[in-house]
Amino acid sequence: MANIAVTGGNGFIGGHIVDELQNAKHNVFIIDVLQGIKKKNNFFKIDINDTKNLEKCFIENKIEYVFHIAAIANARQSIEDPVQTIDINVKGTASVLFASHKAQVKKVILASTVWVFNACEKDFTKSKNITLDETALIKPEGGKHFYTTSKLVSELLCQDFSSLKNLKFTILRYGIPYGPNMWKGLVLRSFVENALGKKPLNIIGDGTAKRRFIHVSDLAKAHLLSLSEKADNQIFNIEGNNDVTIGELANLVAQNIENTSVNFTEDSTRKGELNMDNFEISNLKAKKLLNWEPKIEIKQGVKDYIDWYKSNNS
Ligand SMILES: NC(=O)c1ccc[n+]([C@@H]2O[C@H](COP(=O)([O-])OP(=O)(O)OC[C@H]3O[C@@H](n4cnc5c(N)ncnc54)[C@H](O)[C@@H]3O)[C@@H](O)[C@H]2O)c1
Repeated sequence: MANIAVTGGNGFIGGHIVDELQNAKHNVFIIDVLQGIKKKNNFFKIDINDTKNLEKCFIENKIEYVFHIAAIANARQSIEDPVQTIDINVKGTASVLFASHKAQVKKVILASTVWVFNACEKDFTKSKNITLDETALIKPEGGKHFYTTSKLVSELLCQDFSSLKNLKFTILRYGIPYGPNMWKGLVLRSFVENALGKKPLNIIGDGTAKRRFIHVSDLAKAHLLSLSEKADNQIFNIEGNNDVTIGELANLVAQNIENTSVNFTEDSTRKGELNMDNFEISNLKAKKLLNWEPKIEIKQGVKDYIDWYKSNNS
């Protein structure tokens, strides 16, 4: 049983991580600027850029591990306000790492994203389809998106604090998370809201864009496993096993909600988003080293989400 702080613990993914850690009997301390919907114990209303108060909170509560989940998570919002994105995602990460170092925290676990693979070198000379793992090299041209850049820099900051301040880290690069409490704008939630509201599902592009969705409870389990020393100073891709196209996702919604129709649109604000047309991302390292395995298949996950949405939005 450890004392664990979760920044962003009142958000979509942070909330599930808090539940997972509490179920495993850890003492959890939520750090967020928003009071959660559910009243949870040990809530501290602290902005992650308030380094002094973070440090005080970590010391007073004898925090051993910090899950740094708080961020601007909405990529569209990062295009609207890149300065705010860098302030919260980059400066905020430096602040959390510095406060953790000062409070002698054992390890910081960072929420990153597979979007960083947009910035990775891809050699298609031998094959048209390649698989990338955590060793893929980052190109100087970067990921061409403020959100991706903010996560790449956050990852580099973890590496710097490790080499300069001896602070351990684990970086988890999330696939596309879905499940209860996801925020408005995430694709499955928009599809379900539209289908239940008798409006067509809006597919951006032709529906062939693929993603590796990961159920948020499978994602939360990877966080628990990353407390292990095996995960120290390691990066892991935490994503689903199979490619699912946006068209297939829309079909899964249609199978569960009668009379669902689909509309295809274009959206210029989607520039620079993850494009996995000719590469895939391996989750083998997490399977081998952490014994982690995504359990919830997308078909079941979509059905469960629709049931959850209906009972929580009536
Ligand atoms: N949702 C996704 O599709 C996705 C995919 C990959 C990675 N991620 C990453 O996962 C993490 C969680 O994302 P989410 O979808 O749960 O987002 P979310 O917006 O639901 O949660 C973020 C939480 O951080 C808090 N927060 C924001 N700024 C803060 C600040 N300055 N100080 C303290 N708290 C602050 C918010 O109040 C919120 O509760 C983020 O780091 C995000 O970049 C998300």
